[in-house]
Amino acid sequence: MSGKRIPLVAGNWKMYKTIAEARQLVPDLVRGLANVEEVEKVICPPFTALMAVKALLEGTDIGLGAQNMYWESEGAFTGEISPKMVAELCRYVILGHSERRTYFGETDETVNRKVRAALEVGLIPIVCIGETLTENEAGKTQAVITRQVQVGLSGIQLQPDVTGGIPLIIAYEPVWAIGTGKAATGEFANQVVRDLIRPTLSTLFGDEVAHSVRVLYGGSVKASNAAEFFTQSDIDGALVGGASLKAEEFIGIVKAAVESV
Ligand code: PGA
Repeated sequence: MSGKRIPLVAGNWKMYKTIAEARQLVPDLVRGLANVEEVEKVICPPFTALMAVKALLEGTDIGLGAQNMYWESEGAFTGEISPKMVAELCRYVILGHSERRTYFGETDETVNRKVRAALEVGLIPIVCIGETLTENEAGKTQAVITRQVQVGLSGIQLQPDVTGGIPLIIAYEPVWAIGTGKAATGEFANQVVRDLIRPTLSTLFGDEVAHSVRVLYGGSVKASNAAEFFTQSDIDGALVGGASLKAEEFIGIVKAAVESV
């Protein structure tokens, strides 16, 4: 087995923060996260704030991500952003977030096209998966998660790089836990990652990759409950929505991840 997985905490700002508002938040994050090296930090502002945030992050080790992109490399696709355009600014891109699936018609197939396109330009996709409340209550969690991983990641090659890292991240975000204040329990989330997500990754890419891919938990993570997730065997960090908009919360979550190292 390759080396251990470095925890990663990513902030998904969603459709919050103008450039002016981002300019207020980011310096506080930079100050609060200076010298916190054991954990990888990423923030994902809206497209319009990426340039401004990138400038503010210069010289720091905080990574930048986008929240979406289109799979085509260029063309007459009014309103869309290409992989190359994202890659000019960012190292990461969130793909297949449940809000994209619910409100903008994304499917496992379109997520798969985006994942392939992201890898092709050297972006690290943060691929979001998760079952809805109805699916969860109907006992379909296993079927849904397995399908989302299998279809979403079909036809791609994943190899550990020289450091043993894999250039793809999965975020397990049960839809019923997103923005609801009702986080999953650490134990439940860990079970899904350990017993469903990693075994599915193993059938696709082999044991070493399955062991090395970082899998984040997302859904109502805040500074006060983060440790419950970070102390689990198979959870490697968090994708944070609401709490990533407040500097002290996001910093608190990153520090909880440091404690778990
Ligand atoms: P939340 O969102 O932390 O506000 O629940 C998580 C996400 O949507 O990634």
